[in-house]
Amino acid sequence: MHRFHYKGRELYCEETPLSKIAQEAGTPFYLYSIRTFLDHFFKLKEAFAPARPLICFSVKANSNLTILKTLVKKGAGLDIVSGGELFRAKKAGADPQKIVFASVGKREDEIETAIRSKILMFNVESVDELDVINAVACKLKTTQKIAIRLNPDVTPGTHHYITTGARENKFGLDAETAYKLFAESYRYPFLRFSGVHIHIGSQITQARPFVLAIRRALAFIDSVRSVGSPVEYLNIGGGLGIIYSKEKPQTAQRFAEAVLPLFKAYDLERDLKIILEPGRFISGNSGILVTKVLYEKRTKQKSFVVVDAGMNDLIRPAFYGAYHEILPVIRRRSASLRVADVVGPVCESGDFLAKDRKLPPFEKGDLLAVMSCGAYGFVMSSNYNSRPRVPEVVVKGRRFFVARKRETFGDLIRNEKIVKEVLS
Ligand code: LLP
Repeated sequence: MHRFHYKGRELYCEETPLSKIAQEAGTPFYLYSIRTFLDHFFKLKEAFAPARPLICFSVKANSNLTILKTLVKKGAGLDIVSGGELFRAKKAGADPQKIVFASVGKREDEIETAIRSKILMFNVESVDELDVINAVACKLKTTQKIAIRLNPDVTPGTHHYITTGARENKFGLDAETAYKLFAESYRYPFLRFSGVHIHIGSQITQARPFVLAIRRALAFIDSVRSVGSPVEYLNIGGGLGIIYSKEKPQTAQRFAEAVLPLFKAYDLERDLKIILEPGRFISGNSGILVTKVLYEKRTKQKSFVVVDAGMNDLIRPAFYGAYHEILPVIRRRSASLRVADVVGPVCESGDFLAKDRKLPPFEKGDLLAVMSCGAYGFVMSSNYNSRPRVPEVVVKGRRFFVARKRETFGDLIRNEKIVKEVLS
């Protein structure tokens, strides 16, 4: 469900026509429906209400400050993976006690800033990392909560680039190593072994892999509790899939119905607290990329629609072969379809937004909406081909606001200088 819909022949975001925004913002631009973000957040919150979980929005999916602040104001926590995301989380006014920090490669300076910021906990991915966090906490004369990220060895049947809970992935620790760490937690006097974390992958449409992984995590928690380790939290990660095309993902309600019974034996107020880290579920269908048709090009083999957004703006099709629906902003009356690739201006054959897609005919200047770009869209964009990053526009009802300006050519070279010594 999202709030991008046609009124007559024109595509709207909430109550605002897209063409009006394009006139002011220019193209391309990312467009977010604030209401859709909140709808999804509340759907999850309501579905899990009996468990009162901490829902930490995964900042890596969409790190726009206006979006983060909107969710934070409604009680969301944040899941971060870097010093940069911590900086954003603080700017968005997040309660540090609702911030969890994952990543296999946390640097010492990032760890120190996070401890000083009093974040809730680190999701720890290796023994070496545990030593570093312990040493930093010792230096800062404090005790820091940590969760061990358990690799539950579950393959969720999603794209292999976004599978994270299988044995061969770099993420988490196997149960044996993790058990040993809990049993020897006395060796880390500045750490509190408070939680277990799992995250098995992304864009998972079925409940089954989650259920399998959570069962394993709970069995693990029972085993470490039996040797005296108090585990207060189970972080079940993110990964809920959404509709890009014809997927039939579980709803938040169905997901909760599959997951919550697993916790029957636990008192979720006092005994074990659930943390969720959804990114795509909240943001994926809440944003789109609006682009303009520059040219229609026909070769003997193929038809191409050349648009002004490229793989640097949205890399998912090139990187994962991901499907994003493409809709005309103004629908024409005659809708005879033809097959074409939608390609960008970047000098790579991988620079496409759609391949062999059935599309209505377009004309130069037509606006197209690339759907479901609210997660892993802008955040994965780059300046490749010296293309300034596009603006992020937020719609609230009938009004729209530029929440991040279009970059200028000046921005492209802001941190560069011509080194005279190299020239001489
Ligand atoms: N927690 C952890 C530890 C994660 O690594 C991730 C995503 C999430 C939560 C949020 O997962 P979500 O609910 O959004 O599925 N760039 C890829 C997706 C990479 C996901 C990375 N980790 C894409 O465009 O599909």
